[in-house]
Amino acid sequence: MSAFVINGGRRISGSLRVQGSKNSVLPILAATFLVCGKSIIHNCPTLSDTNSTIRILKNLGCSVIREGSTVIIDSSTAQGYEIPDDLMREMRSSVVFLGAIIGRMKKAVISSPGGCEIGLRPIDLHLYSMRQLGVNVNEDYGKLVCDVPKKLEGNRITFSFPSVGATENAILASVTANGTTVIVNAAREPEIIDLCNFLNKCGAKISGAGESVITVEGVETLKPCEHSVICDRIVTATYLIAGAVTGGDVSLENTNPVHLQAVLPLLEEAGCNVSVRCKTIRLKAPLRLNRIDKIITQPYPGFPTDAQAPFTALACVAKGTGVIVENIFESRFKHIPELIRMGASIKTEGRVAVVEGVERLYGAEVVSPDLRGGAALVLAGLTAMGTTVVNNTKFIDRGYEDLENNLCMLNADIKRRG
Ligand code: EPZ
Repeated sequence: MSAFVINGGRRISGSLRVQGSKNSVLPILAATFLVCGKSIIHNCPTLSDTNSTIRILKNLGCSVIREGSTVIIDSSTAQGYEIPDDLMREMRSSVVFLGAIIGRMKKAVISSPGGCEIGLRPIDLHLYSMRQLGVNVNEDYGKLVCDVPKKLEGNRITFSFPSVGATENAILASVTANGTTVIVNAAREPEIIDLCNFLNKCGAKISGAGESVITVEGVETLKPCEHSVICDRIVTATYLIAGAVTGGDVSLENTNPVHLQAVLPLLEEAGCNVSVRCKTIRLKAPLRLNRIDKIITQPYPGFPTDAQAPFTALACVAKGTGVIVENIFESRFKHIPELIRMGASIKTEGRVAVVEGVERLYGAEVVSPDLRGGAALVLAGLTAMGTTVVNNTKFIDRGYEDLENNLCMLNADIKRRG
């Protein structure tokens, strides 16, 4: 099992260009399957999740070439409509291929993606949106067999929860449907806007992206285009917290501060000086952080659930007690027992964690439970006294490009072992 070995106590300082967004590039790569021709996607981070997505595209018959952070996908002759179980299981968000495959092939066979480390993660809203568009969905022992008896027909889709993935699937399946689709209670995340910007560049007719009601007017075909993916707002938050917990001074470039409107004020509440100039966010941290009174995760534009674990690490070393409420996923506190091994003082009850800040954390051997929980343990290791070993880097590699080298460039003492 690969691990990060961190010698804590160094101030994280310097400047870094932040990677492209994992949660934006995954649906956009899936969307290239809808386009007949060669799509060019820039600012695509090198992650295990993007590698898995590229494997799925190749399995569907696309040719895919990566040149640095640019990925060129040619789906001209692609005819696939099945994703084998092993590829589906590599990554939860493989389910977002459903809408793209059905949109192009009018049929799809995928295995249900299954839960992730952070919760059951059902796909009922995804399947509801497919059925609303005229798709027959048969669930058969872990396999989803979908087909469209006639044509995909535009319809009204009203989500009981603004699910990001289900919104993406509804958009992907409706862009070439017959007629107009109205998606009500749609997710408003920046990644939805980026997906719609890409599709509109390809000739789709989508309006309302970023709002709760998205209207999709079906078009006959989509033409290839070139697109640059937005910056990763959660990775940005993670590096800012690395500066915050070590009394550091970090400048992050190529960011979009607007996407962190619910995050930056909390860093200021913790006593950090946060300044924004164009696409650069600079954070200067105090020697000891103030407590953050409450962190409550919500759908965008509320506080992002993906930043909850990194902020929990920050709360562990702040002055005073803070409350964290995780409203989005039912099992997203698995990093907490690991933080307690490092000396953190945290009590949890259901979806609520009460964190009493301590003067110092201490290095320990810990295990990354999931992607953002693993990032939280790395952050804790950066500020802890002594050496921390964060095992199971495979989860962290899903979402953070070149984490150890980037942190070394910011003065951290971190190495990958195994
Ligand atoms: C996306 O996951 C992100 N992943 C997640 O980021 C992120 O945490 C999440 O949105 C919320 O912002 C990608 O974009 C690849 P949801 P997704 O559907 O689409 C329930 C990370 O760390 N739900 O908005 O799976 C679900 O169980 C990852 O980068 C249903 O009940 O999230 C959860 O409680 C983790 N039925 C809530 O909605 C459904 O059909 C939010 O899920 C779908 C979802």
